[in-house]
Amino acid sequence: MCGIVGYIGHRDAAEIILKGLQRLEYRGYDSAGMAVINGQMDVLKVKGKVKELLKMTRKKKVHGSLGIGHTRWATHGEPNDVNAHPHMGAYRKFALVHNGIIENYDVLRQDLGQKGHHFAGDTDTEVLAHLIEEIHEMSDVDFTEAVRLALTQVEGTYGIAIVHKYHPDRIIVARKGSPLLIGIGDGEYFVASDASPVIEFTKKVVYLEDDEMAVISREGYEVSTLKNVPLTKEVHELAMNLEQIEKGGFPHFMLKEIFEQPDTIADCMRGRLIVDENRIQLGGLTGVEKRLASARRVIIAACGTSWHAGLVGEYLFEYLAHIPVEVEYASEFRYRETLINEQDVMLVISQSGETADTLAALRQARKRGAMVLGICNVVGSTIARETDAGVYTHAGPEIGVASTKAFTAQVTVLAMMAMMMGRYKKVLSDELMAELVRELNRVPSLVKMILRDTKKIEEVARLFTYAPNFLYLGRSYNFPVALEGALKLKEISYIHAEGYPAAEMKHGPIALIDEHMPVVVIAATDHTNDKMISNVEEVKARKGRIIAISSNGQSEVGKLAEFTITIPEIHDCLSPLVAVVPLQLLSYYIAVNRKCDVDQPRNLAKSVTVE
Ligand code: M6R
Repeated sequence: MCGIVGYIGHRDAAEIILKGLQRLEYRGYDSAGMAVINGQMDVLKVKGKVKELLKMTRKKKVHGSLGIGHTRWATHGEPNDVNAHPHMGAYRKFALVHNGIIENYDVLRQDLGQKGHHFAGDTDTEVLAHLIEEIHEMSDVDFTEAVRLALTQVEGTYGIAIVHKYHPDRIIVARKGSPLLIGIGDGEYFVASDASPVIEFTKKVVYLEDDEMAVISREGYEVSTLKNVPLTKEVHELAMNLEQIEKGGFPHFMLKEIFEQPDTIADCMRGRLIVDENRIQLGGLTGVEKRLASARRVIIAACGTSWHAGLVGEYLFEYLAHIPVEVEYASEFRYRETLINEQDVMLVISQSGETADTLAALRQARKRGAMVLGICNVVGSTIARETDAGVYTHAGPEIGVASTKAFTAQVTVLAMMAMMMGRYKKVLSDELMAELVRELNRVPSLVKMILRDTKKIEEVARLFTYAPNFLYLGRSYNFPVALEGALKLKEISYIHAEGYPAAEMKHGPIALIDEHMPVVVIAATDHTNDKMISNVEEVKARKGRIIAISSNGQSEVGKLAEFTITIPEIHDCLSPLVAVVPLQLLSYYIAVNRKCDVDQPRNLAKSVTVE
């Protein structure tokens, strides 16, 4: 949420910052800005996307070999030029970019106001800039120390980068609750809130931890705690490559990522699904099986699409491993008296590994003695680092704000975990295990079959492009898929959509159905098929327009539907992996028809690192 990039070295910082901000734009795109030092300090800020900043930079011919930049997702203060970062104090000597929220900003603002500070905008970040200035101007400490002292006074979360007009030899960075890394080049260094702006220049990075700050010069970097204790940091090697973060000929990242799924699901299973031996091997969970098997309950905590994957996980763990599961919105869990203790296991699921609510739930669970496991996509992310053990999804960078390939990879990991635990607990029979291993192994080719011919989905998308509402119905394993289909449509096309367990219809939502209401029915599970037919009949009786996502064996539902999108047959419990794909495509094509900004939908950001 919001993106930070910084550069110090021998190249043109403005160009590197602009390119970096474009790569980070998926994290927020309300406004953008940068500060570049070259004798003087040029500060450019503009409402809107990075392309506006690019135009401004070209016009003003800004260059320099040191600078910082920011792309914003507004929390405090509306998106406008003034509230855009960087922020400066009254003397305009330094510039600050910030991700996160300074929670005590109001108290600080009042206090600084009484000392004569005037604020140009409404942001919490501007307050921090004034606080640093106040400490620097009014006490006998150098600028770096002023930053450190200011940070000891703030409550909340931050990832910050600061440059000073009269210290053109350094960038100061600090982190608490909002990710930040330093990219190490040859006589040049990069700062970024995630690896995407850095990867083109170096694969060597150092991750800052909470309550750490660093001073970065052309000669090197020094990391210390906020209490001024020097630290030696491990240098990590980034696993991603540049190709993975480019569109590769697709019009949108989202479409590219949907089409990548045969590969990402295969990557996720590689070395883990041992087909010849009917076995699952999840190295990241070695040593924790016993505790997981004996857990009083597993609490899955996640947000958004990852929460939907968690719901599928609940069904899978119960069915295959006989492990009781509760699925929690991380944002609710963190503020509830959930009575979690050391007999429980928490499993957090997060694509980014940086979602603030999920991280808070994890920390709460740990504090109360529960073992915490993680399913994350971004290697080295905060959540991945703070869990006791876990499994990476290996889906590669997901740039489209609407999550697609991360979902199928998460469900693939959950299926493998459930199978592994079922075997460990000896509750999953040889026959079913063998069948599921075979079925899981087929998933990449089945998804490929769906992607080979998308004409029917495009036709349905055309017909319903301007529908104001949609309902999605599923049962059992595909109830979470109904929720996910509705979320995808809402996020990128701004059509109101609801997902329901099909049988819940008659308890209320059925009142919404008339001859204008498109109802997407996911009929891909055998064991609830008869019930689903009855639910579809109920919709038909009220003249709802039925769009069935139906596996080959579900022809009864197909007969009732106005449109049928056929998906290949697969074992019930793995059907979400194929059933979700047409729903991703349906929302994509509808959004494109409506001329929506698919990769950067309004009001959203890719990873939500604030509460
Ligand atoms: O990175 P995470 O998986 O923790 O993110 C959770 C949600 O913010 C995320 O899934 C969000 O709902 C997506 N925009 C869904 O497409």
